[in-house]
Amino acid sequence: MLVTTHLHRRLVPVLASVLIVFSLTFLYRAYHLYPSDKLSQWPHAAASGLSPTTEPLDEPSDYRAPAHRSEDTCATRFSTAYLEGLRNRTGSYCTPGSRSSLTCFHTKARDDEPDDSFCIGRGAVLDPATRKFHLDCALRKLEPEEVEQGILPFNRLRGYMYDTGPRNVFRDAVIVRQETGLARRSGETAVSEALDAEHMHLPASSDSSDGAPSSVLPPPKTYLLLKREGETNPWHCLMEIFSTYMTFDVLRMSRDPSRGGAPFFATDEADDTQVVILDSREDGPFFDLWTLFARRRPVRLAHLLSRAGNNNADDDDAAAVDAVRRDANIIVPLAGGSNPLWREEWHVQPCHAAPLVDVFSSRIRGFYGVEDPPVRGGEEPIVVTLIDRRETRRLKDQAALLAALGKRGLHIRVQAVDFAALSFPDQLRVARETDVLVGVHGAGLTHVLFMRRGAGAVVEIQPDGLDQKGYRNVANLLDLGYFRIHGAGVSMPVDEADKDTEEEPGKEREMDSLKGVETETQGRDNSTNTSTATGVLKKRGDWHFMDVQVDEARFLDVVETAVKFMYNKALWSYDVNG
Ligand SMILES: *[C@@H]1O[C@H](CO)[C@@H](O)[C@H](O)[C@H]1NC(C)=O
Ligand SMILES: *[C@@H]1O[C@H](CO)[C@@H](O)[C@H](O)[C@H]1NC(C)=O
Ligand SMILES: *[C@@H]1O[C@H](CO)[C@@H](O)[C@H](O)[C@H]1NC(C)=O
Repeated sequence: MLVTTHLHRRLVPVLASVLIVFSLTFLYRAYHLYPSDKLSQWPHAAASGLSPTTEPLDEPSDYRAPAHRSEDTCATRFSTAYLEGLRNRTGSYCTPGSRSSLTCFHTKARDDEPDDSFCIGRGAVLDPATRKFHLDCALRKLEPEEVEQGILPFNRLRGYMYDTGPRNVFRDAVIVRQETGLARRSGETAVSEALDAEHMHLPASSDSSDGAPSSVLPPPKTYLLLKREGETNPWHCLMEIFSTYMTFDVLRMSRDPSRGGAPFFATDEADDTQVVILDSREDGPFFDLWTLFARRRPVRLAHLLSRAGNNNADDDDAAAVDAVRRDANIIVPLAGGSNPLWREEWHVQPCHAAPLVDVFSSRIRGFYGVEDPPVRGGEEPIVVTLIDRRETRRLKDQAALLAALGKRGLHIRVQAVDFAALSFPDQLRVARETDVLVGVHGAGLTHVLFMRRGAGAVVEIQPDGLDQKGYRNVANLLDLGYFRIHGAGVSMPVDEADKDTEEEPGKEREMDSLKGVETETQGRDNSTNTSTATGVLKKRGDWHFMDVQVDEARFLDVVETAVKFMYNKALWSYDVNG
């Protein structure tokens, strides 16, 4: 016994230091999730005083018990592990003798779906004759070890809904010169038989910038090749922008051997980067957001090409095109449809943390300079915002329901907001000041993405028969309360319904219906087929085009539940029946 006690005395300080090391390791890992240079530096300084061994130790094994495994799935989708996963699966596709390079990054976000990819090419030339970017790249055969590591053959790059994604961008806008003798498989239709040698002539670059007038804007060096799903539906547009942003994140955290291990893309290269729009859609209300990562105003490919034919030396654009034709970088980004937020919107997802979503939200708000309101409490009312849909899926008798809500004696201020009538920055401001967001299922609920983490609640009214989990999962990711009821679909005036069905695909579609379209048209190259899209919608049920009716008691019940969920959030402190 004496010996044991003695041992205990000696063990206590040892155990204490072990604990400290564990805690530091844990903190180090936690902070490491966030891409802040400052934060990731301090653990080194702190640890150095304690122990010469800096190799981090693992957490106790019971933290890795099966019960906690679901969080792993969440991390691979919504933490920086998603970006790391892409960084870790990188393949270079050209034989060493090629003048251009092509590198693609892959990830598997879901077991039952093909892998997602994006690519960067260097040494690209825009050729007015073919109207495409050319890469002087002889595709090489991947080594068995590379295939083992999950590097996809070039012809396995995926296409996505509405004709988007790397496969379709390459098909429409890039010619990759193939080594002769390589079998041509389906999916490689864009790869030309043989590239006209004259198109591939690369002038000596040493003297290329000499004599350029200093007033001329330096020509863009990097082109982001973009095909969009639509231009007005907020969910679709934001998923595309989000995925493109993550494309740049991965490029910034991946070393390019051809640059001596420097990143594929340095932050200051954003000034030299330009989005090239390959689709023929309108600009749409989210167009500005494409300058988030490519500071120059997006241009249409047709515009670039028209400049390419114009040899006026005084023309800035012509100078830019000239540079493109010599030695440009092209980036073919992750498709919007590959965004981890698209996964499993029909299934409940148990994820509550999402550093990727937090950073995306703060980048978008930062871009528009949207400030947060001060934390509320005391006598300040809880702000309840009803998404006031004006076309389809309106809430029937909305005014009467809101009037009844106002008479419940809750600590609230109620507002009905027609988001479609506001500028996007103003929509963000409303989302940030909203404590309880109430809406009929639809793209307006996209604003859940921009609500304050852990500081709000969402009420979703779904039409009977629909059981969609998308916004529920997003609310959970942001640690918001989520409360749902179903309501009966009621017919709306015929002319309204007609008007809506004739809209182009992607215009007023919602995340669920689109998923249906995607499934129906998967594998088809021509998925912009309007009649197919509309046909699918009709087949899936008419609820898209109906108003929704809920009886007053149920409406008041669900909103009141959400409001009371807020009673002890922020600085409020109310009894639920006070
Ligand atoms: C990526 O690779 C690094 C180094 O091999 C490894 O430590 C990390 O766990 C990998 N991350 C993912 C998400 O695959
Ligand atoms: C399908 O593609 C063809 C040619 O590729 C095009 O002419 C046609 O307009 C497309 N269909 C739709 C509905 O977009
Ligand atoms: C669109 O799809 C439908 C159904 O598959 C087909 O019958 C029609 O020919 C397609 N139209 C075009 C323009 O591709």
